[in-house]
Amino acid sequence: MSLLNKEVSPANAWAPGAEPICVADFEALAKAKMPATSWEYVTAGAGDELTVRWNAEAYQRIRLKPRVLVDVSNVDTRVRLLGQEHAFPILLAPASSQKLMHAQGELATARAAGASGTAMVLSSFSSTSLEDVAAVAKSPLWFQLYVQTDRGFTGELVRRAEAGGYRALCLTVDTPIAGARNRESRADVKLSPMPNLKGIAGVGSVSGIPTGSPDIFKNVFDAAMSWKDVEWLRSFAKIPLILKGVLNPDDADHAAKSGVDGIIVSNHGGRNLDTLPATIDALPQVADKVAGRLLVFVDGGIRRGTDVLKALALGANAVFIGRPYLYGLGAAGEAGVSKVISILQREFQMAMMLTGRTNVGSIDRSVIWT
Ligand code: FNR
Repeated sequence: MSLLNKEVSPANAWAPGAEPICVADFEALAKAKMPATSWEYVTAGAGDELTVRWNAEAYQRIRLKPRVLVDVSNVDTRVRLLGQEHAFPILLAPASSQKLMHAQGELATARAAGASGTAMVLSSFSSTSLEDVAAVAKSPLWFQLYVQTDRGFTGELVRRAEAGGYRALCLTVDTPIAGARNRESRADVKLSPMPNLKGIAGVGSVSGIPTGSPDIFKNVFDAAMSWKDVEWLRSFAKIPLILKGVLNPDDADHAAKSGVDGIIVSNHGGRNLDTLPATIDALPQVADKVAGRLLVFVDGGIRRGTDVLKALALGANAVFIGRPYLYGLGAAGEAGVSKVISILQREFQMAMMLTGRTNVGSIDRSVIWT
């Protein structure tokens, strides 16, 4: 593998000299470019948004321990997940309604993911149908599932995802109800139509396609969902099942015993229950509890390649990013998402080299300054 992976950056996406070079640059660009309500939708969290802030701050508090005079002329960032090789351990978290951020929405994200060779998780609440996204995908797609009150429809959605070639199901378990998103409510965000959910009763609709304010969540989330539903999904799903939104080590233990393939340590980017701890602070306890029985992913607050290194050091097999690629999407569509991925990939590779790690397996807790 080359010293630094080739960057994917279509020409003319940025004015000369104005090329964004870190995630924070994209955040500023996206804010300037996105409609104000979309910006509120992407950045908002629950309550006083303390957890949103802590997710990022907790990474900043962690110090790294360098190691010098190691031959790092060949650095291998590959990871194997669910039997599949990934060039680097950064995947795209599910995010709904991407046409709010860019006209091409999920198609731009899927194309960028394909060009970078990273996996994308498509939200149940995408503004492009799962079939249309599958048609442009060149890298693995996973499907994020919200179990809805209509179990027949939920089962149908799983079968559609399988038929579309999606490689895994990401069942979101931290949202029996959406949180108190005050900023989102004040901005009066209207979500784009959700073609995957066509046919669901009780949600607002534009020509039969559900749409509306985030309050549609009240109608489609099933607050009665329990571990029984995890068993139910496992009884017929033909693709691996991952639980997204596990923070409590006891729940992680339950997940391991229930035979699912993985968990994502997540607090939904701070959008549901404010004052939950930062995910990177919860990760070590979760990783210790599951002790390798299933795959452990983490998301929330990752803004730098050093954050990816820290997450892997503290027990994650790979990480997901949410807002960073949405900033890319809002700033420059497909080119923006590609660039954000390549920046983080490159920063991660640099962090490995500067801590003397030549492959992902060699990243352990000794990378952290204690
Ligand atoms: C999300 N997230 C999310 N999660 C999910 O399971 N289904 C979904 O439809 C959405 N939609 C969504 C929309 C937007 C605008 C954001 C910002 C987030 C949560 C997402 O998958 C992930 O957990 C967080 O975004 C990770 O935190 P960071 O990387 O945004 O800090």
